[in-house]
Amino acid sequence: MLAVTDARKEFGGLVAVDDVTFEIGDAEIVGLIGPNGAGKTTLFNVIAGVYRGDGGTSVEFDGTELTGAEPHSIAREGVVRTFQIVRTLDEMTVLENVVAGATFGTEPNPDRAVAEERAREALAFIGLADRAADLAGSLPIAQRKQLELARALATDPRLLLLDEIASGLTPGEIAELTDVIGRIRDERGISVFWIEHIMDAIMGTVDRIIVLDSGEKIAEGPPEEIQRDERVKAAYLGESA
Ligand SMILES: Nc1ncnc2c1ncn2[C@@H]1O[C@H](COP(=O)(O)OP(=O)(O)O)[C@@H](O)[C@H]1O
Ligand SMILES: [Mg+2]
Repeated sequence: MLAVTDARKEFGGLVAVDDVTFEIGDAEIVGLIGPNGAGKTTLFNVIAGVYRGDGGTSVEFDGTELTGAEPHSIAREGVVRTFQIVRTLDEMTVLENVVAGATFGTEPNPDRAVAEERAREALAFIGLADRAADLAGSLPIAQRKQLELARALATDPRLLLLDEIASGLTPGEIAELTDVIGRIRDERGISVFWIEHIMDAIMGTVDRIIVLDSGEKIAEGPPEEIQRDERVKAAYLGESA
C-alpha cells in the first residue's frame, strides 16, 4: 500500500533521513522507533509532503507517486497524520475540532450535517463522545491525544501516521490508547505507521517494527526480534550515555 524507497532528507550538512526503504501493507500496524534525533519525525514529514525528499526519494501510495505533492492532496489520498505536539484548537469545542478534520478528509467539502455525523461517529469510536461539547483546551493530555486521533479518523483515512501519541501518558492511558489503535486496524482496516520513542508502549500492538538511528534504518522485524537486537540495544544505550 505504502512503498517508500530511498527516502532522504538533508538539512545543510546533516543527513536526517539516509536512504530509508520500507513498505506498509493493508491493515498493518508498523512501529517506527529510534533514539531522539534519529529522523523519525522528519521521515513522517517526507511522507506527508511537509518536506520534499532529496535525492532519489520515492513515496508511492497505492501506485500513486506522492513525492512532490502538497500535504493537502496527500491527505486527500488518505494519508493523514497526528502531531508530536498536539495541535488542537483550544478555543473550539471537541466536536468542532473533529468536524474540522471531517471537512478536510478524503471526500472534500461535505455538507455540515455529513461532517458533523462523521465527527460524532469518530468521537464515539475513540470513546470521547461525552466530551463533545467541552472546549478542547479544557481536556487533560490523554484526552487531547484522543481528540487528535478522533480528528484524524474523521478524515476517513487509509493510512494513519501517529507521532508519539503515547508520550506523556500513564501506563493505563497508554493501554486504552493502544486498544483503540488496534481496533482502528481490526474494525476499519486502516493501516497505521506509529512513531514512538519508547518501544514498550507499542510492543503489544504493532505487527512489525522499523528502527532508525542517525537517519538510517538499522533493523526491521517482529517486536520480539527487535527487542533482542544488539544493534537496537546499542543505539538506545548510546542515547543515555
Ligand atoms: N527543520 C529542521 N532543520 C534543521 N535540522 C532539523 C530540522 N528538523 C529536524 N532536524 C534535525 O534532524 C535530525 C532528526 O530530527 P527528527 O526527525 O525530529 O528526529 P526524531 O523525531 O527521531 O527525534 C535531528 O538531528 C534534528 O535536529
Ligand atoms: Mg520526533
